[in-house]
Amino acid sequence: MAEHPAPAAYPVGLRLHGRRVVVLGGGQVAQRRLPALIAAGADVLLVSPSATASVEAMAEAGELRWERRRYREGDLDGAWYALITTDDPEANRAASAEAEARRVWAVRSDDAEAATAWTPATGRSAGVTVAVLTGQDPRRTAALRDAIVEGLRDGSIAAPHRRTRPGGGRVALVGGGPGDPDLITVRGRRLLAEADVVVADRLGPRDLLDELPPHVEVIDAAKIPYGRSMAQEAINAALIEHAKAGKTVVRLKGGDPFVFGRGKEEAQALAEHGIPCTVVPGISSSISVPGTVGIPVTHRGVAHEFTVISGHVAPDDPRSLVDWPSLARLGGTLVVLMGVEQCGAIAETLIRHGRSADTPVAVIQEGTTAAQRRVDAVLGTVGERVRAEGIRPPAVIVIGEVVTIGRETDDAPAGATAD
Ligand SMILES: C[S@@+](CC[C@H](N)C(=O)[O-])C[C@H]1O[C@@H](n2cnc3c(N)ncnc32)[C@H](O)[C@@H]1O
Repeated sequence: MAEHPAPAAYPVGLRLHGRRVVVLGGGQVAQRRLPALIAAGADVLLVSPSATASVEAMAEAGELRWERRRYREGDLDGAWYALITTDDPEANRAASAEAEARRVWAVRSDDAEAATAWTPATGRSAGVTVAVLTGQDPRRTAALRDAIVEGLRDGSIAAPHRRTRPGGGRVALVGGGPGDPDLITVRGRRLLAEADVVVADRLGPRDLLDELPPHVEVIDAAKIPYGRSMAQEAINAALIEHAKAGKTVVRLKGGDPFVFGRGKEEAQALAEHGIPCTVVPGISSSISVPGTVGIPVTHRGVAHEFTVISGHVAPDDPRSLVDWPSLARLGGTLVVLMGVEQCGAIAETLIRHGRSADTPVAVIQEGTTAAQRRVDAVLGTVGERVRAEGIRPPAVIVIGEVVTIGRETDDAPAGATAD
């Protein structure tokens, strides 16, 4: 990107690995530029009587060679590139002249016009190096760089990889968070922006699907509780088929892929077919949904543990792997996912095994979305309250004294509702 009047600078990427770069001056400018030169593998010689503590640390770590003296004629011998940044204008002028005579590209921190090279504002995201040169206002240059890097990070600027990969595609299992589109990770959002195919659950940030470009194929893998469902095998088959066709596939899941998300089953199915798979963690509803209405799952002096349980089968169902008598003895917080249908039976089982019927309970439906609602009860009444209020999945049930803390401090973040 070049916007300055002609003659414009000619942008180029220098491959400095193993090549001598001379840095004159060890102040703030050198401190800012040195890490990128070191990262590029340059053979850095620093000439300066003094240096900032950070630059000194780089020298001590052996990342550069430091000669503690002033510049003298001949320092640029063998250099491919020079950074002239001393606080002595005369030395800078002399070094510039030497660079010119030796045909060494040189940056001048005190006089851009006298320099033979300019440093662009640079940043890196998604494996892309962004370099912006305007030749004008450095703040504007940096702001442009920040906007581009930010766009790559949050996926609003897509940097698609090659559309089809001859050697086969890849799959990312992305935890989309509890539903609010702002609660997906930066990495998840970027991968979504790069996808050719998105296989999405009903839960999670569905709003993000509207932002996908038209060429992206969206497959609805909605697993509606107690209703129609696309079998897990069919989801696995879709992931495998599209990856084998060379596509970049995102499996967008609600919350975290490995918290009651069957994420590992999908990863294993892909591994059996030799398909590369990346797992991107997500913000689980088990913590974020209570937090959104101001309920901390732990609180000093109140709860030193929290346990997350699946309530998708009744406590007396032989398929249940939950040790209900032990859970009832715990004094900490219980967080039940997929427990709306069995709420009454779960409460009754906990009471039968010793948990007080007065234990506070909060049920939060569709947390972090515009439809969020909260119903409060105690263990003895929650089954009836959930029925009477018509609570539907998805909902998180929080059992324990922390529920009252949430109410007392009224510290729910802006936008959270409590009814
Ligand atoms: C199959 S589990 C998946 C959990 C997900 N992997 C996670 O980490 O949040 C689905 C259950 O998560 C809970 N859940 C997910 N998103 C929710 C939300 N936005 N509000 C309330 N509960 C939610 C509900 O209990 C729902 O039945």
